[in-house]
Amino acid sequence: MSYNQISAEEAASFIQNGQLLCLSGFTPAGATKAIPGAIARKAEAEHAAGREFKVQIVTGASTGDSCDGVLARAKAVSRRAPYQSNKDLRAAANANEVAYNDMHLSLAPQFLNYGFMGKVDWAIVEAADVSDSGEILLSTSVGIAPTALKLADKIIVELNEYHSKELLGFHDIYETANPPHRREIPIYNAGDRIGAKTVKVDPKKIVGIVKTNHCDEVGAFKESDPITKKIGENVANFLASEMKAGRIPPEFLPIQSGVGNIANAVLGAMGANPDIPQFSMYSEVLQDSVIDLISAGKIKYASATSLTVTPGKIQEVYGNPKFFREHVILRPQEISNNPEVARRIGVVSINTAIEFDLSGNVNSSHIMGKNIMNGIGGSGDFTRAAYCSIYTAPSVAKGGCISAIVPNVSHTDHSEHSVNVVITEYGVADLRFKSPLERAKLIIDNCVHPDYRDLLNQFLAKNPIGHTPQTLAKAYAMHEAFINEGDMRKAVF
Ligand code: COA
Repeated sequence: MSYNQISAEEAASFIQNGQLLCLSGFTPAGATKAIPGAIARKAEAEHAAGREFKVQIVTGASTGDSCDGVLARAKAVSRRAPYQSNKDLRAAANANEVAYNDMHLSLAPQFLNYGFMGKVDWAIVEAADVSDSGEILLSTSVGIAPTALKLADKIIVELNEYHSKELLGFHDIYETANPPHRREIPIYNAGDRIGAKTVKVDPKKIVGIVKTNHCDEVGAFKESDPITKKIGENVANFLASEMKAGRIPPEFLPIQSGVGNIANAVLGAMGANPDIPQFSMYSEVLQDSVIDLISAGKIKYASATSLTVTPGKIQEVYGNPKFFREHVILRPQEISNNPEVARRIGVVSINTAIEFDLSGNVNSSHIMGKNIMNGIGGSGDFTRAAYCSIYTAPSVAKGGCISAIVPNVSHTDHSEHSVNVVITEYGVADLRFKSPLERAKLIIDNCVHPDYRDLLNQFLAKNPIGHTPQTLAKAYAMHEAFINEGDMRKAVF
């Protein structure tokens, strides 16, 4: 290989205070794992010498602790977009020490392309292979990497020998032109391939290669508990009944499923439901359960931008690449999450809410209206465009002291106009074609925890006149009761 092989420390020595770094990674999958640590050490040394050193970081989505965690703890980040899920970075964002811009994930590459984020100084990407002619074989995610590699002045590659070169053929790299030259994206089925297997760059832009050998930092899932299991079953039964009613065609529709334990339980329940036929995914993240369902023949094609699976599962994929290459397609996030494609091919979206309200507005990102949890992620890309958009949540949090269903959400990510169905462990509220008052009653009867039904009915009864049930002075009484007395049940309407 004709590139300079350099250490992570040498790579970090090139990075200057204030620069904009685009890093690969969408979740810990495909994230850079060595260079961010070296940048963090450089930041600490600069700070100790009394010099300013912070960089702006744009990635596909969240990354692992060896990226967002170390950089946040070293106070090395001035600005961050479009998503994070790291406890230390979250704390820094909530303390306003990091300017965090929580974005729709499909828009991050577009913002870079349009110049909305400024000049990209560096693209630092993890790869499974790099050819002398500049063909980069990405690893377990695509994310913003193709856009970053195109726009960056200079490139550093983390060549991660843990990843199999058999990944060649999993990726489908397709980039859109900027308006007014953009055309439709020619994907008509989740399994369609329309692009290249690698990202081609000018090899002269590659300043160096840092060799690594680390698995992705994807943690194991908690076993489904009775609540997540019941939510999963409620979603699967709802989808089966939609098919029976003729609202989902017999060949089924592509599924987008969010991240985390509920999403894993939902897919598990869909796999186990005999009334749900083989289906495909048009999603952003593929978790362990998807690999199991592909192996079982229940999932035909799984399109996403990242393969966020545990080390055991990725070895399963690397052990049978020919089989999985036929079923898994990894796309840039602008394509995996593209609302135009999602609307056209009829994606059924299933995401998790932190809280939702009696009208069906959903908060995906903030705790008590104030502190960011992770971010909106791709949920908005899919929800607004979906054939049918579903939100799930356990009916209560914090041992029952918080109801996930409140009179008004404390932060709105998805409006009542985009949210079709809400589901808890208690049941399903199908909000389609319903008035605000009808929605509120359905949600209380079908989804709310019994401890909170009377309370929310009291809120409804308070001011029944008007199109939307609302009493502004009491809209946040449940949130205030939690903040002041530690329990939403103490709210008085
Ligand atoms: N008010 C306050 N806190 C709440 C709450 C509420 N209404 N609901 C949940 N919480 C707390 C939980 O108690 C838990 O706290 P802890 O970490 O101190 O235990 C925390 O929030 C996370 O809850 P949990 O139920 O474990 O969340 P999860 O892993 O199922 O994730 C989201 C839920 C909403 C945070 C997560 O799905 C997310 O970030 N979504 C946005 C992005 C997205 O949708 N991506 C997919 C698109 S493809």
